[in-house]
Amino acid sequence: MDFQEELKERTRHADEVVCSFLPEEEGQARTLLSAMNYSVRAGGKRLRPIMIESTCRMFGGDLRLAEPFMAAMEMIHTHSLVHDDLPAMDNDEYRRGRKTTHVVYGEAMAILAGDGLLNLGYETAARAYCLCGNDASKILRVSKALQILAEKTGISGMLGGQSLDVELDGQPLSREQLTYIYSHKTGALIEGSLMIGAALAGAEQDQLDLLEQIGRDVGDAFQIRDDILDVTSTLEEIGKPVGSDAKNQKTTYVTIHGIEASEAEVRKLSERALEACGRLEAEDPFLRALLKYLIDRRK
Ligand code: IPE
Ligand code: IPE
Ligand code: MG
Ligand code: MG
Ligand code: MG
Repeated sequence: MDFQEELKERTRHADEVVCSFLPEEEGQARTLLSAMNYSVRAGGKRLRPIMIESTCRMFGGDLRLAEPFMAAMEMIHTHSLVHDDLPAMDNDEYRRGRKTTHVVYGEAMAILAGDGLLNLGYETAARAYCLCGNDASKILRVSKALQILAEKTGISGMLGGQSLDVELDGQPLSREQLTYIYSHKTGALIEGSLMIGAALAGAEQDQLDLLEQIGRDVGDAFQIRDDILDVTSTLEEIGKPVGSDAKNQKTTYVTIHGIEASEAEVRKLSERALEACGRLEAEDPFLRALLKYLIDRRK
């Protein structure tokens, strides 16, 4: 398998699935719909939908059932980005290579577009029930996946992490606080993505627990890498402003430990995740290659 080719194809497919669930920009509320579509259609790596598809495939699930969840997860992730960029939060003007939603549509519409994407995410995921017919086991799997989606998005997941992240702007963080922020603001949706695909395929709880643990390490590594790129990259390369963390006086893994130690930590966490992948009952060379690729990602 040529990993780069496979990644390109899976990204294209994820993009197609996500966009197929977006609303038509029509009717009285079309400005809202267009603001929602603007941020999703701007692109992005589509990493979370790719992860959902990958674990669903790996545990032998019905990939059609995964599609509404792939779209839902990307909508919810994009909601978190639209709100993260708002003046009241990180106050950033570029995202995914374009002006941010609030710069183009105004702050009020960006708040609503974020809310709209969050809600449409659940509406979209719930459409998976329409694909279950009378199959009780499929209905149970969809319910389980919805529960994971809601938990990992909400107060015990991404939103909890974002709340501490903004509350502690400009303050030194204890190790415990930093760990909480990373594993929640970023780890939760990655954990959720790996778990949802497997849950839809009917994987047992012990497999979901192991995927959660893998997602936690991948999420921590992903956020540390994001913090490194915030210092070392360029707007052209990552499509969002560099220096956002310094501007907001964020304490990050990088400000505490420096670039070199941060790179070593990304590698260590990723290797631990890869080792744990070896303990899953199912095997997917693509997922392993993806986790390796993320260690040195440039965007
Ligand atoms: C950005 O996520 C926010 C973080 C959790 C660091 P991504 O780096 O996955 O952003 P997109 O989806 O590719 O734009
Ligand atoms: C935010 O972390 C993670 C989210 C839940 C959006 P960052 O604030 O570092 O993400 P970027 O760098 O703006 O993408
Ligand atoms: Mg932020
Ligand atoms: Mg930000
Ligand atoms: Mg960042």
